[in-house]
Amino acid sequence: MRHKSKGEMRDIAKERIAILLDLAEQESKKPDMGRAKRYAELARKISMRYQAGMPLEYKRRICKKCGAFLVFGKNATVRTLDGAVSIKCGGCGNIVRLPFSRETKERRSASAASRICKKIILMKEKGASADEILKESVRLIRAATGRFNWTGIYLLKGDALELHNYIGRPTEHTTIKTGVGVCGTAVAQKRNINVPDVSKVQNYLACSVETKSEIVVLIKAPDGRILGQIDIDSDKRGAFLQRDERFLQKVADCIGALIT
Ligand code: SME
Repeated sequence: MRHKSKGEMRDIAKERIAILLDLAEQESKKPDMGRAKRYAELARKISMRYQAGMPLEYKRRICKKCGAFLVFGKNATVRTLDGAVSIKCGGCGNIVRLPFSRETKERRSASAASRICKKIILMKEKGASADEILKESVRLIRAATGRFNWTGIYLLKGDALELHNYIGRPTEHTTIKTGVGVCGTAVAQKRNINVPDVSKVQNYLACSVETKSEIVVLIKAPDGRILGQIDIDSDKRGAFLQRDERFLQKVADCIGALIT
């Protein structure tokens, strides 16, 4: 077997970190927080071992002093004071103060998109097929943040979307007609759709009862033709920000240029 490069190892590490943090999140919903601390600890170890960096939204979710997995409002408190956010661990009392900056987040999200684009452009240059590029794209998008609980790409074939590949819970919606559901509506109306609360949408195809919000970003060819879409579900209500849409659009545009 070919020896994996450092970058590949790091990508695998990122994927595992995301899975472990998902598990920690689920465990933390139990009254006694279950094994949340243990999963968070493993995620942090992998992150250090492979210099893989924690997903941004989880960076502050682990107490630097005692290692507890922090759930704000449960075992941690958050306050904004003097242009900074203060996070206090309810377990050990440690306080972390973070200067707040929307611009920093915007910049990070843009560079995450550029990194993904660079990787898939390189794949194309090395002769990767459209299938390989689409699979790798889903993997990289999924690894970019822990908020994406279901990440997939649908391709438009005639008047239906066909699920190409995904990471997350299995779905029965592998073929979706144009105009049907959030996915099909995005194609019919030729626009991205961000649904903060899926329970408010009538024309919604439930992929999982856990899903609370969804975003669909169209993949277009450079000539504007709709080729498909990136579809993301989150277990959190209102999970997707404009910044996420910009991030996904940047990646979608790269994909669109590479698979035509
Ligand atoms: N919710 C989508 C269907 C796809 S699944 O979420 C994976 C829709 O309403 O079109």
